[in-house]
Amino acid sequence: MQERYGRLVGWGAYVPEKVITNFDLEKTLDTSNEWIVQRTGIRERHIAAPNETTATMSVAAAKIALANAGIEPNDLDLIIVATSTPDHLTPPVSSQVQHMLGAENVPAFVVVTGCTGFIYALTTADQFIRSGAYNNILVIGVELLSRFIDWEDRATCVLFGDAAGAVVMQAGTEPSGILGFELGSDGSGACHIIAPAGGSAEPFGANTFAEGRQYIRMNGREVFKFATRVIGRSSRRVLADAGLSLDDIDWIVPHQANLRIIQAAARDMNVPLERFYVNIDRYANTSAASIPLAIYEGLESGKIQPDDRLLLASFGAGLTWATAVVQLTPSWQKNKQSKIVTVENGRVLAQL
Ligand SMILES: CC(C)(COP(=O)(O)OP(=O)(O)OC[C@H]1O[C@@H](n2cnc3c(N)ncnc32)[C@H](O)[C@@H]1OP(=O)(O)O)[C@@H](O)C(=O)NCCC(=O)NCCS
Repeated sequence: MQERYGRLVGWGAYVPEKVITNFDLEKTLDTSNEWIVQRTGIRERHIAAPNETTATMSVAAAKIALANAGIEPNDLDLIIVATSTPDHLTPPVSSQVQHMLGAENVPAFVVVTGCTGFIYALTTADQFIRSGAYNNILVIGVELLSRFIDWEDRATCVLFGDAAGAVVMQAGTEPSGILGFELGSDGSGACHIIAPAGGSAEPFGANTFAEGRQYIRMNGREVFKFATRVIGRSSRRVLADAGLSLDDIDWIVPHQANLRIIQAAARDMNVPLERFYVNIDRYANTSAASIPLAIYEGLESGKIQPDDRLLLASFGAGLTWATAVVQLTPSWQKNKQSKIVTVENGRVLAQL
């Protein structure tokens, strides 16, 4: 059988309209714009409207990706949604997305690995393509974190934002898509990013809400140390395995968690910061959405070219990490009209 590759044939993204700046946060929290910018590089974040959910944001991003790929929802063979903030613990939000897209009976599942979810999902999709099982797969990275953080906890709430990103992966025979990857997990660091209550270990109980144990809590320093260690190490291994060097990479697209983490990675890898795609200032940490959102934005603005080779590097809850080298596919045409997305009465309408 001829070798098969997963071509990345259409990207899309969606961010809610409402923006909360650091100055807005200053009004209700013991924090300052100066502290947040200096320590994180974040200036503002987008926050979902009450009638939006993880599913509606996913569908908005997916419609753009499908239009850019030139395929219909019913052409899909599989939908994978990476998120840690689903509409409900059950049913899987992937089935809601499948239904809302009108992708009749298309199999769908969720990948829950925190901020690394998109790369975990993308590499999973790639395996289904390479094996010959499927030809068209929609991969979504989405997060509605604003409903899972404690808006009184300045150590976490200033860091996160809401967004969705999506890509269509399609079977092809030219070397393209994922050229190399590494997935990793170190559960000994589980306690460093955790929502203590709401799972089988600690079901919601009498004290859950009074103590805010449903919210995501984080040991920022430990996560920071882990992230700065893992990005460079994993990137070097993935590049070596793929027979590539950093000179072969057009853009490094890191998970956007903290500008200082990206700066530390740049120093560790001996690469100028300018080679890293950075948009954390405008979106904050959107977890599983951050990398596809950055790629879509980069393509739309023309900074990233449709035939570029990217190094994607992520880290997050678990603790997990995921790194990949991807070759973009020049054959797809950007649909300039596809940016217009409106939300009416909780229903997402993408005007294409
Ligand atoms: C969270 C993070 C920005 C904190 O930065 P830091 O330089 O490590 O800051 P520290 O945790 O050492 O805290 C320094 C002080 O700032 C305070 N502080 C924390 N958040 C603050 C805020 N929003 N505004 C003002 N002060 C704040 C702390 O209370 C602490 O005060 P203290 O010294 O009186 O105890 C940083 O650790 C980080 O980004 N870590 C990685 C987090 C991450 O990426 N998570 C997602 C992974 S996917």
